[in-house]
Amino acid sequence: MVPSCQSYISDIRSTYEGTTIPSLGGANRGTEHILRTDIHRQAERRKQTAPLYQWNTLSTIETQLEAPLQELLARLDELAESKEETELNLWFHYYALDAIGTIALGQPFGLLQKRGDVAGLMKTVQQFARYGAIVGVFAELHPLIYRVMSLMTSKGAYGLGYLAQVMNQAIAKEEKVGRHSNHLHNDFISIMFAMHDRDPTGFTQDDIRYHIIHSIGGGSDTTAITIGAVIYYLCKSETVLHKLRRELEQSRHARRLSHPVKWKEAQDCPYLQVVIKEAMRMCPGNGLPMPRIVPEGGLTLAGHSIPAGAVVGINAWVSNFDHRVFGADSALFRPERWLEANKEQLSQMDSYFLTFGKGPRVCLGKNIAFMQLNKVIPELVLNYDFELIGGPGAEWTLLNDWFVRQKDFRVRIAKRRA
Ligand code: HEM
Repeated sequence: MVPSCQSYISDIRSTYEGTTIPSLGGANRGTEHILRTDIHRQAERRKQTAPLYQWNTLSTIETQLEAPLQELLARLDELAESKEETELNLWFHYYALDAIGTIALGQPFGLLQKRGDVAGLMKTVQQFARYGAIVGVFAELHPLIYRVMSLMTSKGAYGLGYLAQVMNQAIAKEEKVGRHSNHLHNDFISIMFAMHDRDPTGFTQDDIRYHIIHSIGGGSDTTAITIGAVIYYLCKSETVLHKLRRELEQSRHARRLSHPVKWKEAQDCPYLQVVIKEAMRMCPGNGLPMPRIVPEGGLTLAGHSIPAGAVVGINAWVSNFDHRVFGADSALFRPERWLEANKEQLSQMDSYFLTFGKGPRVCLGKNIAFMQLNKVIPELVLNYDFELIGGPGAEWTLLNDWFVRQKDFRVRIAKRRA
């Protein structure tokens, strides 16, 4: 058992927790709102949103996600046709925003169709992450900076203002048309509107806005970064790519993989699962430590006493590469490590794998993320060859502003024959 962060990892299951996610309109609510250090309030919020992430919701979401996936494939077909170089991760960001728009509001934001950002939405979501990273550390500045920033960015149909407008329109439409009452729709807004109808004061329209913003903020960049990471590492590792393609092609020939791939079918492809997990280990979307406040009584960590109230955190970029857990070659992309590990090693690897966080704040959208990856990656691998500009040795640049952004990930795309 590796001692250093094991106690922390188990302790955080019971400690108070902070976050750096700011929320729309949060300026009036002070630092408690932005940091959400009250574990009881936090638990309440999570309980409220449980219906959004239940299995029956996910199965409807899966069908809805097929449209943005087809749109992504259509754009990649165009790029293959044109033979132009492209910054690949941009397309994954367009896809992920359209997908989260579909999941949260029942409609894509239209970035893939426009082949670019829509009303500064992508830029704003990214700026907000940067903002969250700063005020997560200097929380007392939040009300002031937020007010100034809102004045600068929220006006009119652009950026934050645009997002607020789209959300308000969706809420007004829900009120007028009452889609949620026929139970045919399972996007977040319909589910939450039904909750609001049942308990208008316990679950307000502000709560609806809050959860939509959090899912857009938490579920778009992270998903795009992970899709990018899988393809980047496959471009650099021909052996892994061939092995994965063989598995997927055999499954498709045996009619075990439909087009587009269903999540359940993809789960029967064991190598696909470990390729996705290994890319997630190598490139966790969140690049800052996830802060936790030490509870009363303090904490002893690797022989050091840490007083109550101190903020501690582990960065997934550290624990995911711990060579005592993942092996001496932990810096290498090697999906086989997940297949070779025995039961005990696997359980330790899983507890150090912090890509989705751990404890009472663990990512709520983890299953939605896995579902998307299991649908998108097989289609990309089966349908396209991605050639890194500069050859397989070319390196991308990673920028950490809470989310770890990929730059210089330039490729040329070729369409593969069916
Ligand atoms: C590969 C994709 C994703 C990654 C790597 C990821 C990662 C994370 C991480 C690291 C956290 C913080 C956990 C902690 O502090 O312990 C988090 C929280 C969260 N994520 Fe994700 N996420 C992903 C996709 C999604 C998706 C698709 C959604 C929604 C549809 C989502 C919704 C959320 C929400 C709402 C929270 C806040 C949970 C809370 O405050 O209790 N995430 N995610």
